[in-house]
Amino acid sequence: MTSSNKGPRLEKLLKALREEKGFVSGERLGEKLGLTRASIWKMVKKLKEKGYTIASKPKMGYALLREPEALNELAIREGLSCTFFGKKVHIAQEVNSTNTWAFEEALKGAEEGEVFLAEAQTHGKGRLGRVWFSPPHRNIYMSLILRPKLPPRKVPLLGLLASLAVAEVLKHSYGLNPFLKWPNDVLVKGKKICGILAEAYGEAEMTSFVVLGIGINVNVKRMDLPAELQEIATSLAEELGHEVSRNELVKKVLEAFEPLYLDLGLGKEKELLDRYKAYFHMEGSEVLVEEFGHVIEGVVEGLDEEGALILRTLQGPKKVFAGDVRVKKWANSW
Ligand code: BTN
Repeated sequence: MTSSNKGPRLEKLLKALREEKGFVSGERLGEKLGLTRASIWKMVKKLKEKGYTIASKPKMGYALLREPEALNELAIREGLSCTFFGKKVHIAQEVNSTNTWAFEEALKGAEEGEVFLAEAQTHGKGRLGRVWFSPPHRNIYMSLILRPKLPPRKVPLLGLLASLAVAEVLKHSYGLNPFLKWPNDVLVKGKKICGILAEAYGEAEMTSFVVLGIGINVNVKRMDLPAELQEIATSLAEELGHEVSRNELVKKVLEAFEPLYLDLGLGKEKELLDRYKAYFHMEGSEVLVEEFGHVIEGVVEGLDEEGALILRTLQGPKKVFAGDVRVKKWANSW
């Protein structure tokens, strides 16, 4: 966790903005805080990046319209209908990666179902060594410790089920129309809204624990995304036209995921994959799959009974168990 020496100045600006009932000029704020108008402008920009909604109007100045909702353990745990997911919820202001944090805690003995959340990540990890964009206060960065009695080859199913849980929540609680891009990306109108990174630890035969990392773009605005993500990523706020409570969403995802996880332990793979298939519409899409350094080109035929992707390639049918899929041409439209 870090703090910046600009923190107290931002706090003072916030206090001054809160004291005003409406607009207050940059000049007056500057006088109050002993700063120039230009510094006030820069600090207002910082506050906006932290999730504060501040209106700015020429000649009138600034007005604080809304403060961001902080992640809150009580809000998440109150009425949470899970048996063991979320029994302990840890929240940090800033970590390098919630997956790294949870992994370290799991090595020290943290229990199954413990949840690790952060307001920001300095080194959010994506799949295949990519970086996960993790601005403060806007999104969900959550890692969950699982101690499944599963052989390592079945661990990828956990990512599939976590993405299914998110898709079901987006559909049933927020009225969105999500698609699952194999193995575990959640898309809305073709743009990524959630990514999942499962990291396992254990012996060749048995998994000791899995850290299941879930990143959901919640209240981040399109214009605040890096340029390279603006065309390929979206958020709940962008799709719904209003902000969403992150505490509520964390709660709903835990409640949706726990029963799926328990059903997997009971061997209900087929039913679970059928549910996954309801959001999987990649059949007929032309894809490039990178698997262990090789690129395979093919057309998606479907999923097998273990959740592997079945491709039709020039060399014949091919099953892919893990890998990264790039879609050259979608067969379905959003
Ligand atoms: C992907 O590339 O699609 C996977 C992204 C996973 C991001 C989440 S955010 C919470 C957890 N902590 C991380 O560092 N990564 C995962």
